Amino acid sequence: MADIRSIVILTGAGISAESGIDTFRDAGGLWEKHRVEDVATPEAFARNPALVQGFYDARRAALATVEPNAAHEALARLEREWPHELLLVTQNVDDLHERAGASSVLHMHGALRSALCGACGQRFPWEEPLSDAPPCSACGAPALRPDVVWFGEVPYQMDRIFAALAKADLFVSIGTSGAVYPAAGFVNEAAAHGARTLELNLERSEGSHWFDESRQGRAGELVPAWVEEMVG
Ligand code: OAD
Repeated sequence: MADIRSIVILTGAGISAESGIDTFRDAGGLWEKHRVEDVATPEAFARNPALVQGFYDARRAALATVEPNAAHEALARLEREWPHELLLVTQNVDDLHERAGASSVLHMHGALRSALCGACGQRFPWEEPLSDAPPCSACGAPALRPDVVWFGEVPYQMDRIFAALAKADLFVSIGTSGAVYPAAGFVNEAAAHGARTLELNLERSEGSHWFDESRQGRAGELVPAWVEEMVG
């Protein structure tokens, strides 16, 4: 590990699967039960706001019933103990990294426990349903929406992520299918700048062949073992 200083980690739905949160594309996953174009696009929200708010209200409420698992805890440990730079980027809209103790998590697809005012752009920590269209406490408009990135919208903080990928010595992808860009391209970006690349996933993903190393297994086992290699 002597040559590794700067680490970028990308997590996806697979890291929260053992906590009981459905992934998107596995059998029985969210996109089998709901069509993306019905619940996860700006057009869907314009067409049927009640349906979209209800979908995210249910997912926000479900967070109260789940707990972080050993993989979230291991990454929080790595963040605490790694003596050099580390950026933890998640595509997940749950808050399990934070609840495991990670202090700095970049939510590139937004967060369920945050509301965004479509009128004035203010963000608020949010626990309650949004279906009943509460007014924005900054501008008064009944325009609050989930602070999540929908298909067709630009993920958050891409400049910061690409700057970190350009400097990374190691890029690690955990529990993501590699089906959704731009996150699916991070491995290539990091490798192009000379980083070593490692994938930890239940099965080989769409992007496995891009990685220097791909380990298959449950995140709850693979991630603590890898963290132990790094800081044990
Ligand atoms: P996916 O559902 O596409 O992929 C989850 C991955 O996790 C799969 O490759 C599984 O094999 C793996 N997996 C499942 N259980 C696991 C476990 N216990 N341990 C390790 N791996 C496991 O979810 P994401 O890749 O996160 O975007 O999806 C990316 C984006 O697509 C999401 O952020 C969301 C979705 O549409 C938006 O909504 C914008």
